[in-house]
Amino acid sequence: AATPLIDPFGREITDLRVSITDRCNFRCTYCMPEEGMHWLDRGELLSFEEITRIARVMATAFRLQSVRITGGEPTVRAQVPSLIEQLAQVRRPDGTGLELSMTTNGATFALLADDLVSAGLARVNISLDTLRPERFAQITRRTRLERVIEGIDAAIRVGLSPVKLNTVVMRGVNEDELPDLVHFAVDRGIEVRFIEFMPLDGDGHWSPRDVVSEAEMLELLAAHFSFHPLARSSAPATTYELDDGSGRFGVIPTVTHPFCDACDRVRLSADGRLRTCLFALDEHDLRPLLRGGAGDDALAERIVAIVGTKWAGHQIGTVRFRRPSKSMSQIGG
Ligand code: GTP
Ligand code: 5AD
Ligand code: SF4
Repeated sequence: AATPLIDPFGREITDLRVSITDRCNFRCTYCMPEEGMHWLDRGELLSFEEITRIARVMATAFRLQSVRITGGEPTVRAQVPSLIEQLAQVRRPDGTGLELSMTTNGATFALLADDLVSAGLARVNISLDTLRPERFAQITRRTRLERVIEGIDAAIRVGLSPVKLNTVVMRGVNEDELPDLVHFAVDRGIEVRFIEFMPLDGDGHWSPRDVVSEAEMLELLAAHFSFHPLARSSAPATTYELDDGSGRFGVIPTVTHPFCDACDRVRLSADGRLRTCLFALDEHDLRPLLRGGAGDDALAERIVAIVGTKWAGHQIGTVRFRRPSKSMSQIGG
């Protein structure tokens, strides 16, 4: 029977975030340097079968509920719908399937939306940091704002639900656009989440001064809307509802208001390493077991041991904080 997968701080791990590639067709300043990175070789990537096996072990030995596919940009890997199809076949002990979601930059999402839904994708989060083309080019170093908006509209049209937008808020870059982004999302019946800028940018230029705090975001928004917080249901976002009932928005306040107490997740890198925290300094390679003929029990045992090393949370803002050597694009967000 399935046992709970509990870390040393009593938190149950029920969510797995899987990066399927470290590559991306954008170069967002908060995530990857202009010149790109030293990419993983194809043979280093976990195959879809290997990824599905890990999800299956975690769903049957433990009580895994959800899998989120990330990158890099997940849609640049060929045949993603086929991965979703395989994951959709995983059954939990009670006969239910896993909740499957994806985080994407949206640029090519319109081309894949139908196939992803048919394969079993339930929901999607799409990055959108600005509605202004010049600014979009400055942030992403690419010029595909219209494609991203088509991707968002395609996600809504094919019935993915909820569709959420992710906006990384950076001082002096886009904090003046929060009200416009709320209107953009509310008009479409979806939710935008404003994310505090985290020290995982590709260039290593992050400074505490660039962070627009949740408190400051709420102040900026209060000049345009009246709203109230909804009970914080799950990490990582706090949701606010507009008082006129027209919609909602969220804030992900990782830096000023960490939600580590409620953390329910671990991450699997594209090359098969398990990572117990976004800011973890080390990773645990599962490939030797996967490729060395280990059985499911051995894999499950190893996962228990790794989860046993999960720390209480990040220490951004204290002298003890050390930045991970990987950037967001290599971790998967
Ligand atoms: P939902 O389940 O839809 O709420 O997704 P999510 O917010 O967990 O995932 P998404 O990939 O959309 O990430 C949104 C932002 O939250 C990104 O900036 C992530 O890096 C950040 N984030 C996601 N999970 C964690 C986490 O466990 N810790 C921290 N500190 N940030 C996280
Ligand atoms: N700080 C905060 N959020 C980030 N993301 C990427 N890099 C950063 C960062 N440095 C977000 C993007 C994407 C998600 C996976 O992570 O908005 O939607
Ligand atoms: Fe969990 Fe680490 Fe994120 Fe905190 S910083 S919520 S412990 S992954």
